Amino acid sequence: MIKLAPSILSADFSKLGEDVAEVEKGGAHLIHVDVMDGHFVPNISYGATVMKSLLGKTKMPFDVHLMIEEPQKYIDDFMTENTEYITVHQETCPGIREIISRIKKTGAKAGVSINPETSEDTVMDVLDSVDMVLIMSVHPGFGGQVFIESALKKAEVLAEVKKKNGLSFKIEMDGGINLLNIKKVIESGTEIIVAGSSIFKTENIEETTKRFLDIMNNEEQR
Ligand code: DX5
Ligand code: ZN
Repeated sequence: MIKLAPSILSADFSKLGEDVAEVEKGGAHLIHVDVMDGHFVPNISYGATVMKSLLGKTKMPFDVHLMIEEPQKYIDDFMTENTEYITVHQETCPGIREIISRIKKTGAKAGVSINPETSEDTVMDVLDSVDMVLIMSVHPGFGGQVFIESALKKAEVLAEVKKKNGLSFKIEMDGGINLLNIKKVIESGTEIIVAGSSIFKTENIEETTKRFLDIMNNEEQR
């Protein structure tokens, strides 16, 4: 089943709970939590406190995307009863295997993310131990950027490797995804779709979420 993970980076933080309730009513599966430190990426977003303010307000699991240096220092902070995935960037982790096992020890699923300029080859040797690979389809740091097409090829390659080796990791794509390009994202083999501005910056968040899900369901039935 293909899942939708709206990114709260583009939500209205003065009414975060309400925005999140709308995507939940629309049928979204996960809440994507973008954490930026102003070092690994040229922007600062929010930390675990903001994420934890949603505890008890939503049943959706958290999909935590750590765009931070030294992510190993903060893994425990992001482990909550709602946390499903904690994803770290390949570019920040020389000892990626160790961090993956640390994440798993908390009880969360572990993801590894690759930037647009990072080859999928860099994560091949950890595919047997991660629960997810997050392919960035924009340069991380900001919402509302244009989709980078080369991400699709990476998903195709990873989907092929996954199938060939009977692996179970999920393929997630993040950045610049909207109602017009979601079809090709699904066709690439992507199983978890992140969308920020194309959901939260629209007039009717619940209705937009439903439109994403309609396309996802139609594509899956084909
Ligand atoms: C970018 C973040 C994304 C971002 C996506 O650094 O990782 O999750 O919120 O936003 P859109 O969908 O607007 O590109
Ligand atoms: Zn993200």
